[in-house]
Amino acid sequence: MTIDPDASGGYVTDVAYLPGYYPFMAPSRIRHVASSLGIRPPATDKGFDYLELGCGFGATLLTLAAANPLGRFTGVDFMPVHTDHIDREVAACGLENVRVLCADFAAMPADLPQFDFITLHGVFSWVSPALREHVLGIIQRHLKPDGIVEVTYNCMPGWSSLLPVRSLLRHFASRATGDSVTRVKEALATVAAMRKADIPVFHDQPLAAQLVDRLVQSDPHYVAHEYLNEHWTAFESAEVLDTFALRGLAHAGRLPYHQNHWQLCANHQFAGQFTGLDLTTIETLKDFHANTMFRWDLFSARPREAWTPGERAAAAADLFFRVALPNASLPHTVTYGAVTAGLVGPPHDRMLAVMGDSSWSLAMLLDAPGLAAFAPEAVVEAVDIGVALGLFRVEGGPIIDPIPAAEQLPTGSLSVPLSFNRRALVRDDVANEQVSLASPRTKAGHPIGDLHAVILDELARGGSDAIELRLADRLIAAGKHLREHATGRPIEDRAELVHASRDICGGFFQTVLPELVRQEIVVWTSDHPVGSHTASMPVSRE
Ligand SMILES: C[S@@+](CC[C@H](N)C(=O)[O-])C[C@H]1O[C@@H](n2cnc3c(N)ncnc32)[C@H](O)[C@@H]1O
Repeated sequence: MTIDPDASGGYVTDVAYLPGYYPFMAPSRIRHVASSLGIRPPATDKGFDYLELGCGFGATLLTLAAANPLGRFTGVDFMPVHTDHIDREVAACGLENVRVLCADFAAMPADLPQFDFITLHGVFSWVSPALREHVLGIIQRHLKPDGIVEVTYNCMPGWSSLLPVRSLLRHFASRATGDSVTRVKEALATVAAMRKADIPVFHDQPLAAQLVDRLVQSDPHYVAHEYLNEHWTAFESAEVLDTFALRGLAHAGRLPYHQNHWQLCANHQFAGQFTGLDLTTIETLKDFHANTMFRWDLFSARPREAWTPGERAAAAADLFFRVALPNASLPHTVTYGAVTAGLVGPPHDRMLAVMGDSSWSLAMLLDAPGLAAFAPEAVVEAVDIGVALGLFRVEGGPIIDPIPAAEQLPTGSLSVPLSFNRRALVRDDVANEQVSLASPRTKAGHPIGDLHAVILDELARGGSDAIELRLADRLIAAGKHLREHATGRPIEDRAELVHASRDICGGFFQTVLPELVRQEIVVWTSDHPVGSHTASMPVSRE
């Protein structure tokens, strides 16, 4: 398929986007939000259908497909450079549950089935009004009655002080020559010089100045796709909620999860403002209090139900909760914008003790003898607020329990069973990017740093012998330098590099590897010693 530029609806198509895994798109995260609001989510235990509109290079689609073998995943994108890449990855990984279509939203194939989940990330704000209508039509025709839509978009008021940045970038890019990446780089250089000179618009709008600083560090493919599209729009959330309501789809929650609680978006002194309001007004108020610039919204045709704790637990019985960080303790404090919130004392102190390192379904927590002193409603509320404040994480299945201690791990040689993960680890260089691996336990992606990916690749292929030397050699081959944390000095001497590599391996064995085992991304296969490593000199790299 070739793209007629006039037919691209003003969307940038001359340069590719860039790959990225987005955890909020996992069915488990979507189901958790809906079920916590009393909306019965699609069941996934006997298989499900998932459609991503505008899937780009498919990093999320492929990771989720590898992690959810019972799911059937379809990606749609009209840029062949994206869909051809996905086709190659599907073939190379032997993924049998992914189908990718090179198609325009305006001309979709007729044989699409109905879906439990339809997601679109980075699409709704960036395509023309006509294409938005096509997208809404696809949703209406292809969402199952119990299905959930996830849509992301730029929104107000967060964008209000940032609009000058987009205007300037578009203006200078329109005067430059070359492809969109070349033009946006040239435009960004001009805008960055203006920001450096602290001209009044950037002096008066510090958020706009910060945005320019971030963009200078960003991949220009992202900047081109984010800023140069002709029909780019920042919506009021009420417009989007009303648009979906007209199609019979009501708001079914949002991500990140804390944004479902007005108390974590607005300061407590405004409590009175939030009582007795309709949902759309509450969402609008939350956006203004938090100065929101980007939203992840869910929509569903299902009504909100008032569940007992037991009904809530049964509605998504395969979701599991665990303490998010090792050695978590109270008080646990988080700041979201203008709001600082903390957890201290019961029931969270008891929950930390009861939950330990294991994962728990809601039903298990409601039955836990250690939590019997608390009313079931209080336990459910404590789980919700714990997730909202990042004390607990939610996953699509139980992790392996108990955690293997680092010292107990190194008695076997390891394997990485999923071919998707093995392929993700095989990298030509150390690309300064996270690598998202698929977990068949949590049914989601698990990002690790690129150096840790190199270590795991080396371990899986050649065991642990001289692992630090092999890491150092890979760094040298890739032309990557480590730097000393304290001084920023590049480490050039090989012996020093090996020493630093040993420390990185130590960190990997202590923290990264046990989590990979818990998530069944790595399994132990035989009795070859893996060796033990300890961290001493902290290093960073360029
Ligand atoms: C900003 S990218 C987001 C990609 C991916 N969802 C992600 O977040 O990494 C938007 C994607 O939508 C695709 N797209 C834009 N207009 C489209 C259309 N009319 N039909 C099909 N795909 C389209 C683009 O090719 C691009 O890959």
